[in-house]
Amino acid sequence: MSVAKDPNKDSKITESLLSTNFNNPLSFAPTDWEGLLNQIKEDARQYLEAMREHPVSVGAALPLPAFQRLPENGLGLQQVLADFKKNWSPHLVGSSGPRYVGFVTGGVTPAALAGDWLTTVWDQNTQAVTGQGDVSARLELATIGLLRELLGLPDSLIGGFVTGATMSNFTCLGTARQWWGAQKGLNIALDGLRQDIAVLTATAHSSSIKCLSMLGMGSQNLTKVKVSKGDREIMDMEDLIDKIKQLNGQPFILISSAGTVNTVDFDDFEQIGALKEKYNFWWHIDGAFGAFAACSPEHRHLVKGWEKADSITIDGHKWLNVPYDSGIFFIQKTHHLATYNTFRNSNAPYLGEISGDSLLEKFNYLNFLPENSRRFRALPAWFSLNSYGKRGYQAIVENSIAQAKSLSDWIEQQPELELVAPTRLNNICFTLSANSRDSIHLEDENKSVEKFLYQLNLEGKVFMSPTVYRGRTAIRASFVNWQTSPADILHIQTVIMQTLGRYKS
Ligand SMILES: Cc1ncc(COP(=O)(O)O)c(C=O)c1O
Repeated sequence: MSVAKDPNKDSKITESLLSTNFNNPLSFAPTDWEGLLNQIKEDARQYLEAMREHPVSVGAALPLPAFQRLPENGLGLQQVLADFKKNWSPHLVGSSGPRYVGFVTGGVTPAALAGDWLTTVWDQNTQAVTGQGDVSARLELATIGLLRELLGLPDSLIGGFVTGATMSNFTCLGTARQWWGAQKGLNIALDGLRQDIAVLTATAHSSSIKCLSMLGMGSQNLTKVKVSKGDREIMDMEDLIDKIKQLNGQPFILISSAGTVNTVDFDDFEQIGALKEKYNFWWHIDGAFGAFAACSPEHRHLVKGWEKADSITIDGHKWLNVPYDSGIFFIQKTHHLATYNTFRNSNAPYLGEISGDSLLEKFNYLNFLPENSRRFRALPAWFSLNSYGKRGYQAIVENSIAQAKSLSDWIEQQPELELVAPTRLNNICFTLSANSRDSIHLEDENKSVEKFLYQLNLEGKVFMSPTVYRGRTAIRASFVNWQTSPADILHIQTVIMQTLGRYKS
């Protein structure tokens, strides 16, 4: 039996969805855009103006909001905003603020904020550089050009935006895998991986290892190069050469670091570049945040020679201070076929097949990186790079390094604290000294450091991460936020002392 359909019902619903204001539960399109935007703007203003003091961690005392059922009839945007404000946003932490120095967490410059809001307003699907589509891919390529200039990289490198450094490493190592196959007359993208690929590294970030799993290369199929002597985290070049010789001329992939995660150490790129003349390998540099040392004339020497690398990873949401999610990959244009063969969409005529020479003229991100549909995520970076220029980024980078050094110098002077690693750039690794562990009666070093860090973060005034350096549990502070000032460093010192004081009393 067929049910008689009210012909007016659908059109009534559609009318209601499209025409009512945003207080109406059945409203998609507020006639009152101004009211909606003003309300969000006001909430954002309140957070941004008080960000410095916003708690950077939330104590366990606050009960977590409950999961709600999906409403049959929408609640209306007004009520949802009120619910978010009351139940969810009190749990959000001020991770974009100047005293959140955990992990490697950048902030959001005002220009990046403007670009990011407009990214959502325009909601482009950023793909082709030419054709009848939008110009967002062209702006992305332009932003890659600005980044090359900022970092002093040559225009032999092409690049794009992905969600973060992990996906950038994935894009670069995926291309490296294809290149490796081509050296052996194999097409891994077509036929799959049937042989082990030799991958050499000393202190690759965990995300690169994860990429080896994701790419089917195996996270255990890694040849570990010895770390240099003398409290360094970089490759020992003699050992690297020995390991290369053991490969008897087989092609391989080398993962090197522009800024290791604990002490921001840099591999010797001039020496690695010289090895490229002699041996056949793909050279990848993970410079997620350390690459930004290139913005500072005083520190640029750390990346000397890196322009010969086959691929480079950097992060936007770290020292570039654009919001999550933003990572950037650079790959030498000469490898564009390997990238294309790895990420092309075959079997989808509607996506367009391009071949051979026209690849770069008809450039389309769709066939050059993992995602098909993709956010216009270059826009915040474009806004920020153009707004502050080379000098602006030099100032951000040099300020971060200065603040890290000032806290590190202070730690060195405190009998209760001890640096566990040299402070090279913008990261500090420290622990409680034996002396203070005794006085606060915490027997085991690792446990006492964990407990101290938990208490330090609990106050919500500073946020740091745990780490392990040369087998010792330690506390790590990483400075990349554009706003961190000497006043914040004093504040951090006070909170550290107050936390130590709790244990003494
Ligand atoms: C050196 C390095 N590489 C890669 C990553 C991964 O970055 P993401 O979290 O943006 O994927 C990080 C993150 O801290 C990093 O420090």
